[in-house]
Amino acid sequence: MHLLLPGPTPIPEAVQKALIGAMSDHRGTDFGRVQAQVLDGLSTLFKTPSAQHVALMPSSGTGGLEAAVQNLFGPGDTVLVVEGGLFGQRFGEIAQAHQLQVDRLQIPWGQAFSTQAILDRVRSASYQGVLVTHNETSTGVLNPVEDLADQLQQLDRSPLLVVDSISGVPSIPLTVDHGIDTIIAASQKGFMCPPGLALAALSQRARETVLQNRPGRFYFDFRPYLMGRLPYTPAISLWYGLHAALALLFEEGAESRLQRHIRLRNMVRAFAQAGGFPPLVDDAAASPTVTALRVPADVNPHDLRRRLVAQGLQIAGGVGAWHDQVIRIGHVGAVDVGDLWAGLGLLAPHMPHPNQALAAAAAAMDKSGGDN
Ligand SMILES: Cc1ncc(COP(=O)(O)O)c(C=O)c1O
Repeated sequence: MHLLLPGPTPIPEAVQKALIGAMSDHRGTDFGRVQAQVLDGLSTLFKTPSAQHVALMPSSGTGGLEAAVQNLFGPGDTVLVVEGGLFGQRFGEIAQAHQLQVDRLQIPWGQAFSTQAILDRVRSASYQGVLVTHNETSTGVLNPVEDLADQLQQLDRSPLLVVDSISGVPSIPLTVDHGIDTIIAASQKGFMCPPGLALAALSQRARETVLQNRPGRFYFDFRPYLMGRLPYTPAISLWYGLHAALALLFEEGAESRLQRHIRLRNMVRAFAQAGGFPPLVDDAAASPTVTALRVPADVNPHDLRRRLVAQGLQIAGGVGAWHDQVIRIGHVGAVDVGDLWAGLGLLAPHMPHPNQALAAAAAAMDKSGGDN
C-alpha cells in the first residue's frame, strides 16, 4: 500500500526494527541511555537551551496541545488563538475547555495568517499567550511563524508564542531559539514513527512558566519530564523507534529534508494543476508537507478514495467545510520522489487530463534537481 497521507506516514525499516525490539526495563541502563540520547537529540533538533526543555509524553498530538495549555496557562488567562482551519479551531476549543479567555482571529480557509493582523490584536489587548498553527493540515497552508516570532520579540511585553507544528516539524524545521516559546509535535508525521508520542519543546521563559505552581494538571504535568524523570510507564517501544528515527533525521540534515519536501510539494502541485484537480492554496502559502486539491463537480472524492485504496493508494479526504470537494495528498516524513511518483501514477487515471498531469510532475521533478 502506498501511503500519501498527512499522517500517519510510512515508517523506515530501521525504525520498524527498533520498534519491535525486545522489551526493556524503563528504569534500567539500556533504556536510560536511549532516554538521554532521545532528549539530547530533540533538544538539538529544536535548539532548546537544554534537554531539560523538552517533554516527551505518551499521547497523540492533541494531548500535546492540551498539555501545553494546561502547563502554560490557567483558568482566566487570556489568549489569542489564530484559527485558519480545523486544527487552529481545535486549539481554541482546548483553551476554552480549560477555562482560558479565548479571543479568536479567524483566517479564511486556504490563506496564511498575516503577522500584522496578529500584532494589531496583541497591541490592543493584554494576552498571556498567542496560539498558532505552523502547518494547517486541514488546508495545506504553511504560516509565517518565524516572521511572527521576530515581530513579537520587538514588543516590550510579548505573550508566550505557542505553536502547533504537529504536521510541520521536523519536515519543516522550526526552532525554539527563533523566539518561539513552545513547539508541539507528534511522532506520526515528520518523525516517521507510529502515533503515540507527543512532545513539547520549550524556551527558557516557557520552562519557567511551567515550573510555577499551578493547579489543574496531573498526568500531563510537564514538571517531572523537565527534570529528566519519567513518572509513569513510558511508551518504551516508541522511544526506541524515535531513537532510530532521530539518527535518520540527523543523517539527512534539516536543510536537505526541507528541500526534499519542497520538491515533493512542487511535483504534486504541478501534477494537480495540469491534471485538472487544482490546488486550493496559492504558491506563496503552500505547505511542503500536505497539499489540498479541489476535485471537479462530477467527481465524488469519497468514491475516488475508496477506488484508490483498492488500487493500493491511501490519500486523505477534505475536512470541515472542504469535506465533499477536496482530497489531500500528504508528502511528509519518509516519502521520496519514487514513492510520490508511484502514488501519482495511481491517481492520474482518475483525473480529467492524466497525461498532462504526469508530464507536469516529471518536469517538476527534473526542475527541482537533486537526488532525493
Ligand atoms: C496541525 C495538527 N494539529 C493537531 C493534530 C491532531 O493530532 P493527533 O491526531 O495526533 O491528536 C493534527 C493531526 O493531524 C495536525 O495535523
